[in-house]
Amino acid sequence: PSTPTAGRAGYDLLVLANRLPVDRITSSTGDSRWQRSPGGLVTALHPIMQQHAGAWIGWHGQPGPAPDPFTHDGIHLHPVGLSEQDVDRYYEGQSNATIWPLYHDAVEQPVFDRDWRHSYRAVNERFAVAAARLAAPGALVWVHDYHLQLVPGMLRGLRPDLRIGFFLHIPFPPAELFCQLPLRDEIIRGLLGADLVGFQHPHGTRNFQRLARELVGAKLTGDEIEHGAGITTAATFPISIDVATQQRLADDPQVQARAVEIRRELGDPSTLILGVDRLDYTKGIEHRLTAFGELLTEGRLEPANTVMVQVAVPSRQRIDHYQALRERVERMVSRINGVHAGIGRLCVHYLHQSYDRAELAALYAAADVMAVTPLRDGMNLVAKEYVAARTDGTGALVLSEFAGAAAELRQAWTVNPHDLDGLKNAIVAAAYADRDEQAGRMLPMRAHLRRHDVNRWAADFLSRLEQPAGWTCAAAA
Ligand code: ADP
Ligand code: F6P
Repeated sequence: PSTPTAGRAGYDLLVLANRLPVDRITSSTGDSRWQRSPGGLVTALHPIMQQHAGAWIGWHGQPGPAPDPFTHDGIHLHPVGLSEQDVDRYYEGQSNATIWPLYHDAVEQPVFDRDWRHSYRAVNERFAVAAARLAAPGALVWVHDYHLQLVPGMLRGLRPDLRIGFFLHIPFPPAELFCQLPLRDEIIRGLLGADLVGFQHPHGTRNFQRLARELVGAKLTGDEIEHGAGITTAATFPISIDVATQQRLADDPQVQARAVEIRRELGDPSTLILGVDRLDYTKGIEHRLTAFGELLTEGRLEPANTVMVQVAVPSRQRIDHYQALRERVERMVSRINGVHAGIGRLCVHYLHQSYDRAELAALYAAADVMAVTPLRDGMNLVAKEYVAARTDGTGALVLSEFAGAAAELRQAWTVNPHDLDGLKNAIVAAAYADRDEQAGRMLPMRAHLRRHDVNRWAADFLSRLEQPAGWTCAAAA
């Protein structure tokens, strides 16, 4: 790979995210290669950064010093190094064992630890310093996600000339939960260092506005938040996917052929139900499996004709909550298969693996029912990918009302995953829906997505970030 240079003046657009879009993977023989990083943030930002001449600052996925900057898939990448201790405390600790569960309704108990907080501060500072060094005068700097909430304030102190945006990919919780955080004031002040803070859902925007008022005494006027250090706009920007690319992939004859082959390999079931998630306790995988198992037991789904494929991408595997979840899910899968499978015929195919885009697209094309049942999710791009992939208007989406995507994909079979009977009824209704009903729901969702793809999301955010705060001008006039 070539080595990017920012030029003497620096980059006009910088993206900061905990992870780069690729992780460095080292084999047991010591060879290393780059592999696409997991998660929705990378799915959304990758195509945007391919179109812009900016740079991406992030971690390369392994503990140790940062490799030299390089260019991958047309994107300039500037790695930030994390030591073993940083990975342990900043990434696995404060980011993923404190903030992640707390921001997702505390569906697992958040853990609080002083050393993790120190590390979170130190790593945020490292990112801010890297951005201050690489940004051109007056550049746009776009900071992403819950790992880096202190960066906007730190960067504002280092480089007051920059336009700083922040987007949170996960939910922003109500004050009743947020206020448990010992870092609560620091996080609010950190975010208020940005000119523009974006959320997935209006609930997140409102929660943030309320906290800014209550914790730092800010004054709210419309979208504008006036605080001691300046004015910050808070608004909602629901993220999306690269719809055109997903559709092209779905229509690729090789992907279509692979979809047919997948169904054949599964024994040509009359109903194929699909789940695709990082193996995360927020995704409601256990609720989905419980519903499926009960439907087989009750004979409302026929074990001989119904197959569920659950893709569970390995995620955050050293964290206790994730290890416990994996054990529970694997036990449930084997229990369902133990009772309902036959020789050479599984009821649940559980795949704890990462797949390339084409294989995922083939799975979307093969699935009659897509089950997306998170207990809480910022957006859930898998739901949008499935809709974009169903270019012939067939297929049925079962979607949790607690995913951000439910605010937009309104024609899905919407469920509360905690209501097991409701979830079972929705899966059965989706499985037996005829083509007219499928199309009546799928086509409007497809039309919505075509109008709201990831390019529009990025353009909306960046153009808003470029605008000076309107009411300040009015006040000055
Ligand atoms: P999250 O950001 O919490 O992981 P999303 O649903 O928003 O959840 O995004 C997940 C992204 O990861 C999607 O773009 C999806 O296609 C991708 N993905 C899911 N499963 C796999 C897999 N097994 N291999 C590769 N990518 C996957
Ligand atoms: O969008 C949610 C998200 O947490 C991203 O911030 C993150 O990159 C992705 O999921 C995958 O998680 P991780 O980086 O911890 O593997």
